[in-house]
Amino acid sequence: MTAHKPDSTGDTVPEGANPITPQDLSGFEIVVGICGGIAVYKVCSVVSDLVQRGAGVTCVMTKSATKFVGPLTFEALSGRKVLTSLWKPQYAYDSQHIKLTDAADVFVVAPATANIIAKTANGLADDLLSTLLTSVNCPVLFAPAMNDRMWANPAVAANVARVKKFGYHLIGPGEGWLACRTVGKGRLEEPTSIVDAIVELLPNHSKSSAR
Ligand SMILES: Cc1cc2nc3c(=O)[nH]c(=O)nc-3n(C[C@H](O)[C@H](O)[C@H](O)COP(=O)(O)O)c2cc1C
Repeated sequence: MTAHKPDSTGDTVPEGANPITPQDLSGFEIVVGICGGIAVYKVCSVVSDLVQRGAGVTCVMTKSATKFVGPLTFEALSGRKVLTSLWKPQYAYDSQHIKLTDAADVFVVAPATANIIAKTANGLADDLLSTLLTSVNCPVLFAPAMNDRMWANPAVAANVARVKKFGYHLIGPGEGWLACRTVGKGRLEEPTSIVDAIVELLPNHSKSSAR
């Protein structure tokens, strides 16, 4: 039988289970890398949910991502400047890509395009997001989203297998209605499932008292 112990609310949780109260993520720092796919709008819910639970959320958008949703939306939701360029650092005295990855508890990429997966699989660092991913020091979660034929492409499949082998985490994609008005595999996982997967990857203790 599984042993149970009380969590901060007095409820019991299974021994060995992550004791973080999913409702309270205060003290945790999460970086959300946002790529250029139609599913960007769903990532607004992910950011809002994390912020409502008290997490510090820094959004990094690729140039393509900003064509779909403006940085202002993510600035309003996160309450922080959105980072879009290697060359316009928000941190004056440190290399931005090192500072940000030092602070992150979890790094999530959503929607993860075929492009960012290919870049990560090959260690390419030609913009802010891909450069951050080469210096990251915490669990990384990719939430891919793309057309079903893109997802089935053998080069994409090989890149996905490679990033998994490197130890990156993946959630989805799911099967269902795609933005190209077809049905297939390539749909971004539901925002609530992405948030649950982020919580699962957080270090196994509360930081609210530690920081
Ligand atoms: C309307 C539209 C929708 C797109 N949706 C996706 C998508 O869901 N997934 C994907 O991998 N690429 C998608 N792309 C292609 C990417 O935007 C393109 O590969 C881009 O170079 C990705 O750049 P990034 O990875 O730096 O954000 C889409 C392009 C357009 C014009």
